[in-house]
Order: sequence, then structure tokens, then C-alpha cells
Amino acid sequence: MPLDRRHFLLQSGSAAAVVALFGQGCALPSAARSGNTLGFTGVPVSLRDAVVVPPEYEWQLLYPWGTPTGIAGQMPAFAPDGSNSAADQAVQAGMHHDGMHFFALDSRGERGLLVMNHEYTDEQLLHTDGVKAWTADKVRKSLHAMGVSVIEIRRTPTGWQQVQPSPFARRIHGNTPMRIAGPAAGTALMRTAANPAGDQVFGTFANCAMGVTPWGTYLTCEENFHGYFGGPKEAAKDLTDAQRRYGTVPGTQWVEYWRFDERFDLGRHPNEPHRFGWVVEIDPFDPASTPVKRTALGRKRQESATCTTSKDGRVVVYMGDDARFEYIYKFVSREKVRPGTDAGARAANRHLLDDGTLYVARYDAGGRGRWLELTHGRNGLDAANGFADAAEVLIHARLAGDIVGGTKMDRPEWIAVHPTSGEVYVTLTNNSQRGDPGKPAPDAANPRADNLFGGILRWREDGGDAASTGFAWDHFTLAGDPAQPGSGARYPSADADMFGSPDGLHFDSGGLLWIQTDMSGQVIGKPAYASLGNNQMLCADPATGRIKRFLTGPNGSEITGCVVTPDRRTLFVNIQHPGEARDDGSATHNSAWPDGTAPGSARPRSATLAIRRRDGGIVGT
Ligand code: FEO
Ligand code: CA
Ligand code: CA
Ligand code: CA
Repeated sequence: MPLDRRHFLLQSGSAAAVVALFGQGCALPSAARSGNTLGFTGVPVSLRDAVVVPPEYEWQLLYPWGTPTGIAGQMPAFAPDGSNSAADQAVQAGMHHDGMHFFALDSRGERGLLVMNHEYTDEQLLHTDGVKAWTADKVRKSLHAMGVSVIEIRRTPTGWQQVQPSPFARRIHGNTPMRIAGPAAGTALMRTAANPAGDQVFGTFANCAMGVTPWGTYLTCEENFHGYFGGPKEAAKDLTDAQRRYGTVPGTQWVEYWRFDERFDLGRHPNEPHRFGWVVEIDPFDPASTPVKRTALGRKRQESATCTTSKDGRVVVYMGDDARFEYIYKFVSREKVRPGTDAGARAANRHLLDDGTLYVARYDAGGRGRWLELTHGRNGLDAANGFADAAEVLIHARLAGDIVGGTKMDRPEWIAVHPTSGEVYVTLTNNSQRGDPGKPAPDAANPRADNLFGGILRWREDGGDAASTGFAWDHFTLAGDPAQPGSGARYPSADADMFGSPDGLHFDSGGLLWIQTDMSGQVIGKPAYASLGNNQMLCADPATGRIKRFLTGPNGSEITGCVVTPDRRTLFVNIQHPGEARDDGSATHNSAWPDGTAPGSARPRSATLAIRRRDGGIVGT
């Protein structure tokens, strides 16, 4: 057993630890067990253009791109030819669903709000004639296709239904007014011509993973915001280190917004990108509330903002920065959470995410780790090293992480906290540049060069307290196909189903870990990846180390966004970017899911699924 693993296990004393130490034969009963855990029929890897679930289960299509969100008087039908206007798109499901949560509206959990991110756009699908020629209207429609949906749903005898219209229904998108709060608000780098006070901004976009606060608000994470800012290539000559590090480089933009909406022009408005890359707090129960960007949590390519509480009742937020060789972060609030999720508690806790301490993680060899404080004036974070004040430490958190010596990770994606043990699991999706010339070498936490398949790392905070500054860690899995020579794959049980590039991660209240994968559409089915099939979702029981494949997705899709209802009888899952074109020169998307049969017969649509056992039993059994 590697030293890192032994260290983690000795420190943790968890059921998982006991099983791992003493072998598979002594699986321990877990407190929250019910039904036959992982008793479902596992599904094989698949290259079929379909959603496949175990025969004991059924899935139902709930909220594909273009579906009216349910705002009274504003419910334009989806136009399958891409001809909906920008105004239509502002009140319809956005594209490319990602992180998601279910907020129950009744005690039985049969009525609730489903809140989800729309991460990015496929401009080819979004507009009738694509974007060979961009227009201002296309920019607006594109901005409206990202952000967040709040929909009301209820369970009926024939399945889950969207409530249309609903007083809760809301679309938040790339032009929705929002507030900027916390230490960076109003500071020099946040001020723009349109907002000299530096405290308000239009929109959120590139919304990837998410979090839920203990007081019942939704956190959406701005990930690849850099791709939407641009300018002419020539404007890239005088870039700062920070601009380079955050990728806001003229000439490298993904879309041509800057030609039609000047705030996206890096040359004219260099501070506008500082107003993106944040965690945004949304109160889903109040459709009139203004979303707030919480700058105390640091700026990065934000992926997940997973909340828990410390022993003394402060909120703790775990965050990943999804880029190669970037960091894992933790925020600990200064004040304690007032318990409850009612309107009073939500109001009382409104300022909690504006004041606290931000840390970056260092994973040491031997299975120990430290949280390193990112506070101005400490650990070298001062003017001599380029940080004039607290705001600059937050706005340029990546550079601050360098100074204090955080561990450069293999693309941290989602983070999940075990509901009873408090152990924290993070997906490290892949890093094909690990060990390349001039790039960081493999290290204890990121042990594989040319890491094509990623893995899941976990840690346990010292004393079982999420506010601790020390922890023990190990790898839960190193993903990939163990049969491939030199794969270095390692799973926690001999019969675990294999997977690659884990991304979405969700613990249900029973302690089952749902793992979702995101192998790039360019590599699915290609030699090194062929045996792994299409992207998929698996269910793991950390108490035994068993992992079983639960769902496989349509061609080109990523499986992302996952939430199990409080009664554990419904699982909501997002299918993102079905048909993501393969790199074979073909312009046709390789899927028409869910509306068409053969590729090319319909525009493929990202969508939310509701999945249940046919007998109404607990999901994961
Ligand atoms: Fe949007 Fe890092 O996944
Ligand atoms: Ca992701
Ligand atoms: Ca991903
Ligand atoms: Ca993807």
C-alpha cells in the first residue's frame, strides 16, 4: 500500500478505511443503508447513440434546450430550426446544461424547484445559419443561452412535469443585472466605463458546476469566461502576467462578441473580464432577487462551490479551478451560519460569503496536506510580489496560489462532501500535459505523466473539522482501463467498473457517490479510449469500494449535473452537448438526440432527465 494511502486510512478511521485496510471481505453495514445498495443491473460500456439505464430503471425527458421556462405570458415554443429570437431564448431553457440542484417545495419532495446551469453555446446549433456571419442579435441570443434556469416541477402519476406557468420560473443569463459584493467590489480593477463604481455587472455565463448553501441558496460557478472576451490579435502584445494566466488574450476568443458588444473588447474595456470568474449566489425562491457575485471566494475558472459547515458552525466552501496545473481552494466564513432555510435564515446569512479566509491546497508526499492562507500581507502576498491590496489577491487568486506554493493539479472539476463522514472527494479530470517539457512533473497527488484518464482524490480534514488547516489524503481511483499496458489505473475494488475523465460528482444523503464522466467528444471511441465507450454515470459505494456503471449517454454527450431528491427516489441528470462533433472534418453532429433518429435529422439538444426505479424504490439500489 502506498504511503499516501496508509496515511489517509490511519487518520480517517472511516468504514472505507477499515475495508481498504482489511480487504474486501468485511464490508461494513453503513448507518444510512436501505435496500440493496448497488443492487441494480450494471450497464455495459456503449457506443450507442442513446441513453441506457439499468432494466430496473426508466428515464424521462424533462427540460431540453429551448423549452419555455414557464414565465407567465412569455412561453415561446421551441423552434427546431434554430429560428427562436434572442428575446425568445431569454425565457427558454439555455444550452448545455451543467450543475443542478433540486430545492424541495413540500415535505414529501414531490414538488420543487430545479435550478441548473447552462454552460456554453454551440453557435452552429443555436442559429439557423450558424455564425459564418456574426450579428449583434446572434451575440444577444448566445448570451441568453447561457446562465441559469429556475423551473418548478411536480411529480404526477405519470411522472415529473414542469409547472408552466410558475411564479418561481426564471432565466438568469449573460445580460441579467447583478451585484458585485465582497472585498473586491468597487476596487480599481473592477471599475469600468459602464460601471465606474465597480459594483454592478451584466450577466453570468460559462456556468459550470455549482453549490448549495446551508441556507438554501444556489451557487453557480463561472468557468470558461475567458473564451468570450476578445479583440484583434495585434492587441495581445502588452499583456500582463495576470491576463495571460487567466487566458484573456485578444485573438484567442471562441466567439466574436467583442465586435458587436464593446464590453467584450479587451482593448477597450480591460477590466470587464475581472468581473467574471466568480461564484454567483442566487436565491431561487425569490424571482425578483438580484444575483450576487461573491468576490471573497476568489477568481478562477470556477468549477464547483461545494458547501459544508465547520465544527463551530461557519460555512466552508470547496472550489476547483478547472485548468491544467491550477489549484483547489477553500473558503471559511468569519461568521457562523444561522440555521434554517426559510426567508429569515436566507436574509440573516446573506453576507456570510463576503467575509472570511481563502486558502489554497498543498498535497504533500506521504498523504498529508495543508491549507495555505491567501490573505493580503501574509505568506508573501504583498506589494513586493505584485499584490497592492486584498482585492488583487482575490482577483488574481491563481497568482497568489503560486506565491504560497499550492499544488498544481490535473484539472480539478467537481467536489463532493460525504454526508456523514465529511470526507471530501474531488475529480481530477485529466491533464495530457503533465510531465511535458517545461511543464510540472508528476507529483504525489498527480502521479501520472500524460494523464489521459484522470481520477478521484479525497481527503479528511484534521479532527473532522472542515475549518482545519491540515488534512490527510489519498486517491479513491486512478481512472482508465487497467487492461491497457501502462495505464496506471487503480480502482478501490477488484470488480469496479472502469471509466475515464471523471467530472460531475454528487453524494446522495445515503452516502452513495454518483460519478459522471466527460471524455472529450474528439477522443470518444478512439484507440486509447475505445474500451471506455461513450460518457457515462457510475454509482460508487465508498464504504465497500464497489463502483457500478449506471447510465451511458448518447454520442458525443457529456453526463453532468446530478441531484438525488431528499426521498432518494428520483435522480435528475443532465445530458450535455449530445452530438459534439468528432474531429473528422464532418460538420454533422454525430447525434440527433433526443428528437431525431439518425445524425443530421434534428438539432441535438442538451436536456435534463428524471430517472426512477420502475418500482419506485431508492435510486442506487
Ligand atoms: Fe465545465 Fe470543467 O467543466
Ligand atoms: Ca465539468
Ligand atoms: Ca470537463
Ligand atoms: Ca464537455
